[in-house]
Amino acid sequence: MTKTNVWRVKQAHDSQLREQLSEAASQLREGGIIAFPTETVYGLGADARSSAAVERIFTAKGRPSDNPLIVHIAGRKQLDELVLPYSELASSLMEQFWPGPLTIVLPVREDALSPLVTAGLSTVGIRIPDHRTALALLEIADCPIAAPSANRSGRPSPTLAEHVLEDLDGRIDGLVDDGATGVGLESTVIELAGEHGIRILRPGGITREALQEAAPHALVDSASVDEPESAPRSPGMKYTHYAPQGELELVQGHFEAVAAYIRDQVEAAKKRGEVTGVLAFEERLNRYDADHVYSLGSEAELGTAAHQLYAALRDFDGAGAQRIWAEGCTEHGIGAALMNRLAKAAGNRIIRV
Ligand code: TXA
Ligand code: MG
Repeated sequence: MTKTNVWRVKQAHDSQLREQLSEAASQLREGGIIAFPTETVYGLGADARSSAAVERIFTAKGRPSDNPLIVHIAGRKQLDELVLPYSELASSLMEQFWPGPLTIVLPVREDALSPLVTAGLSTVGIRIPDHRTALALLEIADCPIAAPSANRSGRPSPTLAEHVLEDLDGRIDGLVDDGATGVGLESTVIELAGEHGIRILRPGGITREALQEAAPHALVDSASVDEPESAPRSPGMKYTHYAPQGELELVQGHFEAVAAYIRDQVEAAKKRGEVTGVLAFEERLNRYDADHVYSLGSEAELGTAAHQLYAALRDFDGAGAQRIWAEGCTEHGIGAALMNRLAKAAGNRIIRV
């Protein structure tokens, strides 16, 4: 067991923040592993140049070693030390979306980072987070910070400091608690295909539509979901993720049919004596009489749904739900990331009605 220090910085004024972060930053520089908030989810950080530190991340999370980590930097000045020269398109996307929830996969410079960070790939995913506390911590630590989401592998990503402690208390050196994160889903991960191609490896806070608008001449596509497991483009996407302990099914189709299907399933499960849960949009909440019904907010406000999704998935665990049904939604805008995470949480049990 490690003692996990907690630094609460939520109320800190800008002038106090740096002082409050100095201990966390020194621990990072000395090989510690520290969880910190970003605008997407909480990350578990370590000095990306130190294999000893990075190895501790994999151990604490129980993460497979073939799944590379995203590297976080405070500004573009740090970038050239880490990656090889990149295209105009990459530069333009950085200009438009950094700081922000966009991770760009670029060819890594030899010996710039621990090989554990890249899981032996010749590329590295990099982003500058759009979050006051994350940026201050990165600046003070003054080194590239590798940080996957700060959850035990396979669990929903943490959007509150409490979620980090649930999963990792006693396994990490510290946690910077700054309350709830923003987007609530992880960053969009892209790779560049030639001079004009953008391939979305993981949908997230920066939508396909936003990328297309930012790069009107680019060809934006998504990595095929049924590519061979042996050579995934974004290794993390092949694992079951974000899963609650109960068995979750994602139900897509016309809302009337979806509601009818879920109602029938809940009724049958209750007869079998199972604890049931439903994850639904506000518009249809009152149609369900499962043991636990959680709202994702209005279907017209998918940003709110993204913000709440992981906390809701964790709530089902707290409630002991054994069977859970989730309503599907449009895959437009942030809906694409939402459906991607729900499909993963469902272990791809997707019912079309
Ligand atoms: O929003 C986020 O991205 C959060 C916060 C903490 O920044 N981090 C995060 O990290 O979600 P993680 O490790 O949970 O997810 C990283 C994803 C994985 O799917 C991984 O396979 C992919 O990024 N990835 C990392 N490096 C890659 C690379 N070189 N090539 C392809 N995919 C890569
Ligand atoms: Mg993760």
